[in-house]
Amino acid sequence: MSAGNEGDALCFFINGKKVTENHADPETMLLSFLREKLRLTGTKYGCGGGGCGACTVMVSRYQPATKTIIHYSANACLLPLCQLHGAAVTTVEGIGSTKTRIHPVQERLAKAHGSQCGFCTPGMVMSMYTLLRNKPQPTMEDITQALAGNLCRCTGYRPIIDGCRTFCQETSCCKANGVGNCCLSGEESTAKSELEEPMLFDKEEFLPLDPTQELIFPPELILMAEVANPKTLTFHGERMTWVSPTSLEELVQLKSSNPQAPLVMGNTNIGPDIKFKGVLHPLIISPTRVMELFEVTQTPQGVWFGAGCSLSEVRSLLEKIVLQFPEEKTELFKALIQQLGNLGSEQIRNVASLGGNIMSAYPNSDLNPVLAAGNSKVNVISFGGRREVPLNQDFFVSFGKTILRPDEVVVSVFIPFSRKGEFVRAFRQAPRKESSFATVTTGMRVLFLEGSRVVQDVSIYYGGMGPTTVRAAKTCAALRARPWDDETLSRAYDILLDELALPPSAPGGKVEFRRSLALSFLFKFNLEVLQKLREMNVITDELPEEMRIQHLPRVIQPSLQEFQHVSKDQSDQDPVGRPIMHRSAISQATGEAVYCDDIPRTDGELFLALVTSSHAHAKIIGLDVSEALQLPGVVDVITAKDIPGKKVRSMFGYDEELLAETEVSCVGQMICAVVADTRAHAKRGVAAVKISYEDLPDPVFTTEEAIEKSSFFEPRRMIERGNVIEAFKSVDQIYEGEIRMGGQEHFYMETQSMLVVPVGEEMEFNVYVSTQWPTSTQEAIAETLGIPSNRVTCHVKRIGGAFGGKVTKTAILASITSVAAWKTNHSVRCVLERGEDMLITGGRHPVLGKYKVGFMNDGRIMAADIQYYINAGNTVDESVLVVEKILLHMDNAYNIPNLRGRAAACKTNLPSNTAFRGFGVPQSIMVVENMVNDVAVVLGRPADQIREVNMYKGLSTTHYKFEFSPENMLRCWEECKAKSDYSARRRAIDQFNQQNRWKKRGISVIPIKYGIAFAESFLNQAAALVHIYRDGSVLVTHGGTEMGQGIHTKMQQVASRELHIQPSKIYISETSTSTVPNTCPSAASFGTDANGMAVKNACQILYQRLEPIRQKNPKGSWESWVQAAFFEKISLSATGFYRGPDLYMDWDKMEGQPYAYFTFGACFCEVELDCLTGDYQAVRTDIVVDIGRSVNPSVDIGQIEGAFMQGLGLYTLEELKFSPSGLLYTRGPSQYKIPAVCDVPLLFNVYLLSDSHNPHAIYSSKGIGEPVLFLGSSVLFAIKDAVAAARSESGLVGPFTLSSPATPERACLACATPFTQKIPVSKPGSFKLWALNI
Ligand SMILES: Cc1cc2nc3c(=O)[nH]c(=O)nc-3n(C[C@H](O)[C@H](O)[C@H](O)COP(=O)(O)OP(=O)(O)OC[C@H]3O[C@@H](n4cnc5c(N)ncnc54)[C@H](O)[C@@H]3O)c2cc1C
Ligand code: FES
Ligand code: FES
Repeated sequence: MSAGNEGDALCFFINGKKVTENHADPETMLLSFLREKLRLTGTKYGCGGGGCGACTVMVSRYQPATKTIIHYSANACLLPLCQLHGAAVTTVEGIGSTKTRIHPVQERLAKAHGSQCGFCTPGMVMSMYTLLRNKPQPTMEDITQALAGNLCRCTGYRPIIDGCRTFCQETSCCKANGVGNCCLSGEESTAKSELEEPMLFDKEEFLPLDPTQELIFPPELILMAEVANPKTLTFHGERMTWVSPTSLEELVQLKSSNPQAPLVMGNTNIGPDIKFKGVLHPLIISPTRVMELFEVTQTPQGVWFGAGCSLSEVRSLLEKIVLQFPEEKTELFKALIQQLGNLGSEQIRNVASLGGNIMSAYPNSDLNPVLAAGNSKVNVISFGGRREVPLNQDFFVSFGKTILRPDEVVVSVFIPFSRKGEFVRAFRQAPRKESSFATVTTGMRVLFLEGSRVVQDVSIYYGGMGPTTVRAAKTCAALRARPWDDETLSRAYDILLDELALPPSAPGGKVEFRRSLALSFLFKFNLEVLQKLREMNVITDELPEEMRIQHLPRVIQPSLQEFQHVSKDQSDQDPVGRPIMHRSAISQATGEAVYCDDIPRTDGELFLALVTSSHAHAKIIGLDVSEALQLPGVVDVITAKDIPGKKVRSMFGYDEELLAETEVSCVGQMICAVVADTRAHAKRGVAAVKISYEDLPDPVFTTEEAIEKSSFFEPRRMIERGNVIEAFKSVDQIYEGEIRMGGQEHFYMETQSMLVVPVGEEMEFNVYVSTQWPTSTQEAIAETLGIPSNRVTCHVKRIGGAFGGKVTKTAILASITSVAAWKTNHSVRCVLERGEDMLITGGRHPVLGKYKVGFMNDGRIMAADIQYYINAGNTVDESVLVVEKILLHMDNAYNIPNLRGRAAACKTNLPSNTAFRGFGVPQSIMVVENMVNDVAVVLGRPADQIREVNMYKGLSTTHYKFEFSPENMLRCWEECKAKSDYSARRRAIDQFNQQNRWKKRGISVIPIKYGIAFAESFLNQAAALVHIYRDGSVLVTHGGTEMGQGIHTKMQQVASRELHIQPSKIYISETSTSTVPNTCPSAASFGTDANGMAVKNACQILYQRLEPIRQKNPKGSWESWVQAAFFEKISLSATGFYRGPDLYMDWDKMEGQPYAYFTFGACFCEVELDCLTGDYQAVRTDIVVDIGRSVNPSVDIGQIEGAFMQGLGLYTLEELKFSPSGLLYTRGPSQYKIPAVCDVPLLFNVYLLSDSHNPHAIYSSKGIGEPVLFLGSSVLFAIKDAVAAARSESGLVGPFTLSSPATPERACLACATPFTQKIPVSKPGSFKLWALNI
């Protein structure tokens, strides 16, 4: 190793400023350097593993060979600092700021309402900015590709896409998305929307994009890059050394003396291994400056690509080559291009190298099966010389291992040209269409004897079918030298099935699905080959339409958002009812918005990391922290014994321990916490804590196990109207069914974060915390420390998304952190890693719903008996309240005269579940709607008709005797059907389904009736504090927290109307317990209703106080009145209060008025399903919602779209997987897929019901945060409709189960194609499942 002890200086640029780092630590990633060292906190930490895009930055480099500058987006969380020597990095702060000028990307994203909580916004901005640097007039496809790796949990992406769309020059055409009329044909209403007022934003106002305004590439870096003999660089860190050689010889030398040292190129494999698996590499070799690894050489047989080329470079080179050569020569190239388009995200492809992908030897690598099928080879070098090694079945030895020796370096990869009569194809199916590792991926190649259909050579490789890339050798043998016809293929399927037999408990699960995908891909290959043979006139029979392969539609169209104008009489200055931009959107887009972890470090600040249980149910028999305490930087370990006050949080008579003392009841339960000077040291401390356990018998994980063992949290609830038992006796038909719904992870982009600062006297603490309920956190800390609440002030500036997950769990985490702050007398920060957050904090309750329904032949449902079981986890948390809300919503839109519901919260040894947007309603109604759907299927009638027959009509009473008018619900329903052209779509779909065997379309229309406010009456209150300062500026504080839902924007609008001043004079700084005490949670869609009234009250008091002054000087300005009032000793500060409705629910009498009113809506959805793979696309969604008179249509439409997409995730995509021992496998965006840009319905229209008024809420508006989430189920029901069409082709009719989420796996298996039917089903109980069915 050539490294000396003195490290080199690392030199690069950030936002045009030179950075020289004399002690660059190889373990430091760019993200922590930016955030912690340079205090550039605009770049966010969302996952740390390249899966969310929150940390996106632009990297620019000068390439001396071509004398060009390249710009690419990258994930700062995976970019080693040491890799950046000679690079220029641009962060969100570098492209624009409110102090100078904001960049058009920042402006457009903000003004198009593409920023809610704003945590994802800087990453979005940087992905889009990088695209524009490379292509100032991008296409929509470019935009969706650029944003594919950026997750947003709030907006539903539509406004982000629309903001970015304003940079496109092209007219985006849907190309009819497969069927029906094209958007340009004039028959769709989209074009009309352009002309109609009002609009959510006016693109004419936007700053033009001016590429000349961008930062120039630093000339110093060009000089640096052109240095003739660059020297080896060495950087030493605390535990690692980094060496960056400049020549191949030196690289080989280094590798031969350090064969175990990894070569770090893109760091997309090594990085996650270090971070998540704790792998430590004392030496890292970084060959990114070795030119030979980047050379591309063409030969008559093919092209050698340098192993160091990034996947993006490889893709763009392949695209160029494809244009230069005859089609027949580039079959393999095209297959690779296709795979590269779907592999990871743009940020990953920009850094991940070709050699790295091959050498990582992932079992589901997308490239290896194609390269292997295409007869590629690698050129490797070592001290002993060079050799060529074919990429074939022998190359991939085992999981993550290849045949190459550790001292060998891959120099280049040979990708051969194809020959005449040779076809290469690639297929993949992933849990999410983009930015997701494949479930199964394949490369297939066949060569025919010239002019014949006889197979001369064939090669088939799969990824995802075992621990390595595998070859289907026997299948190939069965195809070779035989004619490509039905008989040969049919034998091949059987052999393939036999050859790739995954054991039923294979790691990764989905065994049946994976096996059927393997068959389906061969079938798809068959279709493509037949098509080709037909084109080449080798076969002459016309292929039937159904034998042609068609891809799912992908083009996202401009959509419609319809809302009401404000009245003509409303003053221009009054913002209420107008689509005002989120008040922090610009700061969020520039990265200036401050989140909890952006607060600068205080002097002596410590970091807290949690030690959690690795056993599901066990006694703690030993806790040894001695080794941890010896580690550098570790200050203390906090255990339950350190808690000076109450050691538990109590709910419903159950105690939840803050830190487990003697026993654990789930994997992930918090046991103790390590406090250290840095995050890294705290984490190393955690790894060194030793805990010994004695397992307790029979942990309970699944709902069924809990039922069997009567493991419930009491009280269980029951409600009944009419007499179900009697009613069943007189119905025409009875049907019994069940549906299982999985849970859901909140996946707020900002993980749980808090900073507890001891003031230093009289036990006073300032707490900066990301919580929806500051008062609860304040109380929890006070109880834990045994001090009065008046010593604890909680401050919440903004929250990077919450969705119910930052109420109870945050209070517990903050309590533990406060113990550390109290004990050490230092400020202590705790910010959970994504994986910890997912493991510890629980989410939405999984539900098992069983129903018995009695109905008449005309469709009227006369009786329904529904039993709900929710998997609550190891503590009660809010589960009993969830149970209650489930029962209160079980009627949804339907007047079922005899209705009984029973619900129980199961106590299991899984992490405790908690509140999540909708609070049980999405689960409750899912069961009911599934039941109604089943009735329709049994009767052979369209589901919408059965829904209509049973809907509430006229003045109605719910099953808990609450009177209401369903008029607006029925209006939403009718309007939704009309706007979506439901009947015509139904006919078009029936026709489509007749013409297509392997693709089916389905539709659904679903209603919602959602109760607003808290059934716990005391929570229906709010307060506000409004100060007017002497310069006329106004500071508003209220009890609501800003978590992206725009409450501060709405409160600003309220104050503006009531004080008759411009919104710009009004500021909202934070929510704090010292300004507004005893707040209620920002939840239950009630934030605006309650706090709006409180702010209104305070403002009216103040306005009234100014009345005498105004009368004296009616022509005076606001400022002059305020000044005069001060001199006349009139108080310019007022509190406002709102005493909300007295709601109640009497569970003994089974009656009450638990809600203030209902928000109504209806949603149409159309999907297209690939029956062979289960892949689907929501083609169109139309949502009509009654939200009264919207206070802010852009904010409300944002809530509607965001909730719909979160519902789409819940019902079709997001899957939590637990191991048989209760460990959550899905602990990050790589394993847990929330919707991404690719999931947005291609046409996504939202209409706010006109002429609706609501006497129960501020300015006649209605709460909207939660209700629409359930409407995401329309996608599941549309998939179910499509599946039913597929099943009927297999002769299957009648109800069938499609559990939620309706993932591609479930949809495909439910289709019962000839391929899925071939898969033998293993006998339940005969094997251990890879994942629990909780
Ligand atoms: C969020 C995310 C999503 C992803 N999605 C996909 C996907 O959908 N499909 C897919 O196929 N992959 C996917 N990947 C994997 C990704 O493609 C690989 O991690 C990447 O290609 C590895 O390249 P790298 O340059 O980053 O390797 P590094 O992490 O730098 O190195 C990986 C390994 O390769 C070795 N190595 C690198 N170069 C050489 C060489 N020239 N000679 C010898 N050994 C070498 C190193 O020693 C090391 O062991 C994803 C990764 C992430 C993080
Ligand atoms: S934080 Fe880097 S991708 Fe998520
Ligand atoms: S605005 Fe995108 S995550 Fe909140």
